Amino acid sequence: MQKKTLSDIAIQGKRVLMRVDFNVPLDEDKNITDDKRIVEALPSIRKVLDNGGRLILMSHLGRPKGKPNPDFSLAPAAARLSSLLECPVAMAGDCIGTEVMQEVLALQDGEVIMLENLRFHPEEEANDPDFARELASLGEIYVNDAFGTAHRAHASTEGITRYVQTAVAGFLIEKELKYLGKALQEPERPFVAILGGSKISGKIDVLENLFNKVDTVLIGGAMIFTFFKAQGLDTGNSLVEDNKLELALSLISQAREKNIKLLLPMDVIVAPKISADADSRPVSVDAIPEGMIGVDIGPETREAFRREILGARTVLWNGPMGVFEIDRFAEGTFAIAEAMSQATAAGATTIIGGGDSAAAVAKAGLSDLMTHISTGGGASLEFLEGKELPGIAALND
Ligand code: 3PG
Repeated sequence: MQKKTLSDIAIQGKRVLMRVDFNVPLDEDKNITDDKRIVEALPSIRKVLDNGGRLILMSHLGRPKGKPNPDFSLAPAAARLSSLLECPVAMAGDCIGTEVMQEVLALQDGEVIMLENLRFHPEEEANDPDFARELASLGEIYVNDAFGTAHRAHASTEGITRYVQTAVAGFLIEKELKYLGKALQEPERPFVAILGGSKISGKIDVLENLFNKVDTVLIGGAMIFTFFKAQGLDTGNSLVEDNKLELALSLISQAREKNIKLLLPMDVIVAPKISADADSRPVSVDAIPEGMIGVDIGPETREAFRREILGARTVLWNGPMGVFEIDRFAEGTFAIAEAMSQATAAGATTIIGGGDSAAAVAKAGLSDLMTHISTGGGASLEFLEGKELPGIAALND
């Protein structure tokens, strides 16, 4: 990595201001339902505390629209962190202001405080310079370990770097770039990418960028129906982006020109409605009945995709194969997760690009069997599109 990291700096006795992404899912009772983002930040957090740094953590949670709102408090994240670290984590009432400054200045070596949600202030998302300067004044060293938010040029991720001398990457960012970066730059081959999700429009840039890197692309999710309609097939009531039909054809011809094996499903599961109690059955993609909706990839496709995955040395997956939130339509998505876990066991590097695919792998109970699961949803997608992530670009070279 071209950026300085936490390993490159002296920490003892310093106020270390660290941006993390503790934007974790909460249930109605404010219990954290998935603490992966907190757990993945622990190596950086421990590094600072074990080396006698005074740690100030800042994050956003949800989208509170620039106003304080207790529903979006970071208190549950501070409590979870405290139990993971087995030490107290103080919770500040805000992220800027005199009181916060006093609490921060009272920190002793090896102590940690969590600031309240940055997005309680509209200036955070507006990347306001005064707000960024005020945040910067809290620390002597700035560390960004919020990979999940690195695609946002916000005050705490980008603006702040103008007002600190030392701005380095944390270990999570380093790890994410190691796996995602290696896959894009020097993958072991064959390199198979699996892309799913409902719309081509959300994945077009990823597809075009990956076309320059991969050997094979497997496509699932509702976006297949736009490809099928473009090829003149009947797609029933399946989701189709009618304004992307030409684009679908152009993607198919780009793949052909670049000698990339682009595999679309040969069969799909169809149902009259997207509902757990709907009758469903597999059909060939050229025989989707009128009125039916495609909800998952079919058994023949699962087997064909499995063979491709098991033949790969690098596998990268982004986007579910069907409506995996409904158990009966999750089989195709789970089959990919299962095949990837077998590929890992056979020595391949398997990478999950965050978001829904990461949730699906967790639901399948296979998270521990992947080489790397990204903590970034939007961030990993933009990275795979080949875009520069502002929160990382702004750090010290
Ligand atoms: C995410 O969950 O993708 C990040 O925390 C960024 O959140 P945002 O999409 O609300 O900016």
